[in-house]
Amino acid sequence: MTNINWYPGHMAKTKRLIKEKIDLIDIVYEVIDGRMPYSSKIRDIDQYIKNKPRLLIMTKIDLCDMQETQKWIKYYEKQGYKVLPVDLKENTNINKILSATEEMMKEDNQKRIEQGMNKRKTRVLIVGIPNVGKSTLINRLVGKKATNVGNKPGITKSLDWIRINESLELLDTPGILWPKLDEEKVALNLASFTAIKEEVLPLDEVAIYILKTLYKYYPEKLKERYGITNINYDDILPTLDVIGKKRGCLIKGGEIDYDKVISVIINDVKEGIIKNITFDRFEGELDG
Ligand code: G4P
Repeated sequence: MTNINWYPGHMAKTKRLIKEKIDLIDIVYEVIDGRMPYSSKIRDIDQYIKNKPRLLIMTKIDLCDMQETQKWIKYYEKQGYKVLPVDLKENTNINKILSATEEMMKEDNQKRIEQGMNKRKTRVLIVGIPNVGKSTLINRLVGKKATNVGNKPGITKSLDWIRINESLELLDTPGILWPKLDEEKVALNLASFTAIKEEVLPLDEVAIYILKTLYKYYPEKLKERYGITNINYDDILPTLDVIGKKRGCLIKGGEIDYDKVISVIINDVKEGIIKNITFDRFEGELDG
């Protein structure tokens, strides 16, 4: 599985839009998913956003295994990123995004004031792969006060500026980029938590990967959700049978509906029904 793009057509369009607009942008909010802080990060992002200052916004922190995700936060901080973990469902840390943004613009604004000019509005672009929470983030930032300059916020179709407050505007572009699925684990993680076309990765493969990963790192969750305490990697069918019976995935005659079992497993993880899990494991050195 080398160099598979999800949707190359859209990708080209997004790249073009970002390229056209990037010179207007002061700060990029790069959004990644806290359950897969490596897999959900667009690896060639620097090509698109040049050297613009950026905030790395890590969403779905309510669904991740914080102990593991914390290692990634440290890792990215060591690389010089400003990382902000957020739970967009509960609206935590949204104000920190705004204050960090102001802080990043401080020097620039100070200079303007010294030169007798007014503070300039900060212009932000949000980028990330599909389903990481970009639209939700826009809606959270906009809140009630917003008087958006253009279409409905969060519905990223045209190139409108959305006014967040008197000093901040968001470029409402579809800042969606798709990673190249050239690492098997990355593709499997993305398929576990977001959506990848079945032609790219068969669903049964994804479900089995989920089971194996849970068994390896979170056996208690397998037990809790499906009553499974053991998996035989050489013969996964008995495991699917147990889940099928437990979750009522049966067809006429009491036989197991394996397609249903597979979609139950994927859905449980994708929808965050099984929580506090992080599939990207940090294996490098953090100290020193
Ligand atoms: P996108 O624009 O990047 O494609 O992502 P979007 O905001 O549509 O978010 C995708 C899904 O992730 C949404 O769920 C959204 O509610 C959920 N989500 C975003 N951020 C967080 C977070 O921090 N925590 C949790 N638990 N969920 C988050 P959905 O099922 O598609 O819609 P709905 O549940 O909002 O109805």
